[in-house]
Amino acid sequence: MIAQFIMTQFIMVVLLFIFALGGSAIVFCLLNIFWRSYFSANRKYQQVEPQPIELKVIARDEMSARHFSVRLQAMNGEVLTDFLPGQYLSLMVPSESDADSASSALLKRCYSLASWQQGTDFYELGIQREVEGKVSTWLHDNLQLGSVISALPPKGNFVINGKQTDHTVLIAGGIGITPLRAMVHQFICQIGENQFGKNKSMSLFYCAKSIAEMCYVDEFIQLADECSDFMFYPFLTQGVPAAQFTAGRLSAELLTKKLDLRLDKLKGDYYLCGPNAMMDELKVGLTEQGIAADHIHFERFGIEAATFSGQEYSVRLNNNKSIVFNKQRTLLDAMEAQGVELQSECRSGECGQCKVSLLAGKVKPLIKIEIDLKAGQILPCCSIPQSDLLIDV
Ligand code: FES
Repeated sequence: MIAQFIMTQFIMVVLLFIFALGGSAIVFCLLNIFWRSYFSANRKYQQVEPQPIELKVIARDEMSARHFSVRLQAMNGEVLTDFLPGQYLSLMVPSESDADSASSALLKRCYSLASWQQGTDFYELGIQREVEGKVSTWLHDNLQLGSVISALPPKGNFVINGKQTDHTVLIAGGIGITPLRAMVHQFICQIGENQFGKNKSMSLFYCAKSIAEMCYVDEFIQLADECSDFMFYPFLTQGVPAAQFTAGRLSAELLTKKLDLRLDKLKGDYYLCGPNAMMDELKVGLTEQGIAADHIHFERFGIEAATFSGQEYSVRLNNNKSIVFNKQRTLLDAMEAQGVELQSECRSGECGQCKVSLLAGKVKPLIKIEIDLKAGQILPCCSIPQSDLLIDV
């Protein structure tokens, strides 16, 4: 009897063990299937490249001899992807390679969205004609009412974060005004809808050489007249046309003095967009004035040309192609001009898309590189050679 009882217990334990093992195995299999499908979906998501969209020009306005404003709408009334003020579109224009004029490659350049309103059905850009700028020249000469152009959907991290501080300070130099104008539009809209409650304000400092180099000035003056929470401070280095303008260069000291008149403390977030030299100087100056580094945000607009030393360099690629660097603004410009296609987007050392490995030679970075690169990697969009180079593309 006892032996039978022990045997029964033993069989039950064995059965329980088998069931437990089976259950675990089933749970394990289910988890495994879920895990794999989640990861493969995620990997696919990461690999999906945004698809170009076709946009049609619905308005074009000349803002100055060097600037025009353009509105683009989706073909066939398709709905446009939403965007945040401060983001950009990448426009794609046909390349005419120096080496091969029949090349069908496309040149891609980022242009900040210059206006914002909820649920808009168009994108607006402000485009400056750059000296020797192939894309901006093409856009100035070819974009007319009804023209169609390819673009990648809006993108970019230069946006006002959700927790807007009491005071937002925008600082623009030249065509760097475009993303900041979109931020002004958003602010005016939110103030109008009373989204903030009380005590939110915005100041815009806008610097240029002359009034002819400025865009949207009348609009900003009018907005500042109509909205007491928005302040506009235009600065000109070459003569001032009216009393609202300040003559001279904007310094961090001058800026904080102007703000001090209105604010108890220099609290707030600072958004800078303009020439690199101006931004670097103001960034240092603001930090010295006590603004915390994580409250200073900036966007670079390409790289300014370095002074050409007169020295030419040969750049060999590991696919046996060779090009020559002479007078181009950056190594990326030189490569593209001679038919070498590289991934690129920001052209200002921020997205990392153009990175390549330097196998031999030396380059000079034109800005302080702030993204992580592996040993030996360089960013051709913001580098120039200092010797002959061998590059792995
Ligand atoms: S194109 Fe973005 S880092 Fe070079």
